[in-house]
Amino acid sequence: MSRKGRLKRTAEIYHGDTMRISVRRRLQVLVSLLFVSGLAGVSAAQPGPRPNVQLASKEVNARVEALLKQMTLEEKIGQLVQFSAGFATGPGASNLKWDELAAKGQVGSFLSVVGADATNHYQHLAVEKSRLHIPILFGMDVIHGHRTTFPVPLALAASWDPQVIETVARSGAVEARADGIAWVFSPMVDIARDPRWGRIIESAGEDPYLGSAVARAWVNGYQQDDLSKPDSVAVSVKHFAAYGAAIAGRDYNAADMSELTLRQVYLEPYRAAVEAGAATMMSSFNSINGVPATANPFTLTRILRKEWGFDGFVVSDWGAVAELKNHSIGDGPTVARKALTAGVDMDMEGGLYGTVIAGQVRAGTISESVVDEAVRRILRVKFALGLFDHPYTPVGPVYEATPERRAMARKVAEETFVLLKNEPVEGVGPLLPLTAKVKKVALIGPMADAQAEMLGAWAVTGDAKNAVTLKTALAQRLGDRLLYAKGCAMESGDDALILAHASFDVPASGVAETSIPDDDKTIAEAVETAKKADVAILALGESATWMEGEAASRTTLGFTGAQERLLESVVATGKPVILVVLAGRPLEIKWAAAHVPAILEAWSPGIEAGPALVDVLFGDVNPSGKLPATLPRAVGQEPLYYAQLPTGRPAHGDLSHMPRNADERFMSRYLDEENSALFPFGWGLSYTRFSYAQPTISRAEVPVREALESGHGPLATVGVDVKNTGSVAGTEVVQLYIRNTAASVEQPVRELKGFTRVTLAPGESKHVEFPLGFDELSFYNVDVKRTVEPTTYKIFVGGSSLATGETELKVAE
Ligand code: BGC
Repeated sequence: MSRKGRLKRTAEIYHGDTMRISVRRRLQVLVSLLFVSGLAGVSAAQPGPRPNVQLASKEVNARVEALLKQMTLEEKIGQLVQFSAGFATGPGASNLKWDELAAKGQVGSFLSVVGADATNHYQHLAVEKSRLHIPILFGMDVIHGHRTTFPVPLALAASWDPQVIETVARSGAVEARADGIAWVFSPMVDIARDPRWGRIIESAGEDPYLGSAVARAWVNGYQQDDLSKPDSVAVSVKHFAAYGAAIAGRDYNAADMSELTLRQVYLEPYRAAVEAGAATMMSSFNSINGVPATANPFTLTRILRKEWGFDGFVVSDWGAVAELKNHSIGDGPTVARKALTAGVDMDMEGGLYGTVIAGQVRAGTISESVVDEAVRRILRVKFALGLFDHPYTPVGPVYEATPERRAMARKVAEETFVLLKNEPVEGVGPLLPLTAKVKKVALIGPMADAQAEMLGAWAVTGDAKNAVTLKTALAQRLGDRLLYAKGCAMESGDDALILAHASFDVPASGVAETSIPDDDKTIAEAVETAKKADVAILALGESATWMEGEAASRTTLGFTGAQERLLESVVATGKPVILVVLAGRPLEIKWAAAHVPAILEAWSPGIEAGPALVDVLFGDVNPSGKLPATLPRAVGQEPLYYAQLPTGRPAHGDLSHMPRNADERFMSRYLDEENSALFPFGWGLSYTRFSYAQPTISRAEVPVREALESGHGPLATVGVDVKNTGSVAGTEVVQLYIRNTAASVEQPVRELKGFTRVTLAPGESKHVEFPLGFDELSFYNVDVKRTVEPTTYKIFVGGSSLATGETELKVAE
């Protein structure tokens, strides 16, 4: 099925009218679902390079050149300047005369101005008053939906379902456009392997293959196949590059890695986004191997433009051009020149381009052709978006969280939950799904009834009022069979007080405690509540409004405040406990994993948090999410990810105790903790069970020449039969991993190279196929060339990165 067709289906889901379509259309939808889930024998194979054709069109280029000829140097530089004329999302926001800048054509873009009225106000000034009538491009952080808040991006990645991501992107695009925003600062495609870094919440997690599939889905969903459509928005893929590799997980910190790792791991999702036609990129705050990313000609020009053929424009991150001074690479004029010549076309909220570029052009230290090229790139996007022809946004009705929008948010959230554990309790059996036998349920925890917390970080225009909590949804289902106790606050002591009075400018809809919470008292109350019930559901986590997202690095990964104590106290009552974890990053939940029989990872689920959770807790929906990021046993293991490089002394045997002899000691291990994850990448259970037959491969051997010349086509196909051996229907994410056993450069012990969602009725079995070609088998050699060499690939297929079903492919001389 064509991409256009798939997008149409997404649009249908968006408008919530799949139920009303014809039988023929339903069949088409089914086929598209089969395509997406890979059942038609096709997995998410990577398409070849496809630079953004719309930006390179003859018509657009002609209009750009004609305009450029008329522009003065000041007008050109105006296009390279961006300011927030709304709220701040970083330090040191400027407060200039926005009306005047717009009317004089001295600002090419505003960020964080929301709404048809507000954007039209500036647009009228720019289009009607400025000499050349160039429209302003309004940009904004539309991260996981715009007004309708969906689960956070990390949660969306846990669905392993590109269709879900396209749906969220479509919703965000439609609602953003209605608010005058034609440019979204999304997707964030940074690989995040260290949950100490708070921005892991905005990412697709630790893996480049999953991350690339997710990146493509975002771009397709936002931009569709035509930027000029009234409901398309241009993306800004961020943060280029390697921002997620901040040393020690501390935000804005340097990244330092080999070029091979940079290319094979960190750059892959950006490349996928560019191939999908991304119109813009955002440069990152960090340095890469000693060169700041915002003044880095290697990444911004050589790789992005020359190798990948990117023809959109690059915007800096907030203040990142001016902050180059802190990287000690020069004074203001020098760093502005370095950023511009390296390939940063627009200066976000720094004011440097606007003040120091013109002088340097006049002095001859910057060639005007460099400025011209940056202007061209920006104007191309404005033309492609249709802003010159339709600069204004029709003023429409006020946003409402309609039943259609809610249904979509609920369905999406249900796919993102990961059932980590569901072990039978003696005399009761598995606690989940909850059955009618359970008479009284005690709902406990500060996340149980916290509307704002359900939205997650970066829900900039989300409204907490629209969020339905677990308490509200459970009360609807259980009536007076539901007991409730908050148990404790999200934060304890002074922290709670400080946060209550903090002001960060960034719109955070959170309501913090207003006095120091008395945790002892509230925990005692919660214990009494639990004693009155048959089962206790604990809703615990980490504050989405204060502890996650940007500038939210941590050195510990436990529940905040007194929540761990609350959990332990309730477990001590002997009542069966179900733990629902609401957090935007992998938390350290080792004690819970050992003492709590049922654990559901629910992330930050968005406005339909409560209803979606109830659907899954009661088994109306069978959970199908899988972890996009490893859950550690201890923070000291970080960065912990499954695709580790090999070591000469791999750990083996029982690592749960201190080594007793030299053989147990001198291997790559910790003395005080096991090496393995608490819950590994790709992990996720279901209310049913799946069994895997032995995987097979269509051919055992491929000549290396054929592999090298095969382009993007498949060389061999791995097939596996998957069966639902339980008693309820369920969806399994079937995953394929490879290990290259004899490469000239050592390769990870496992790498994901295929995945697909399969829905099976009880007893049903389906055959799933994964194509393997150059894209899946290749790696970067010491000459930084992507290649395939004679080797043997071990291939593993199963339901997580621990997959045991095994086959092989030999690449012969
Ligand atoms: C963040 C970006 C964001 C930008 C604009 C920065 O602080 O790093 O992700 O898009 O602000 O709000």
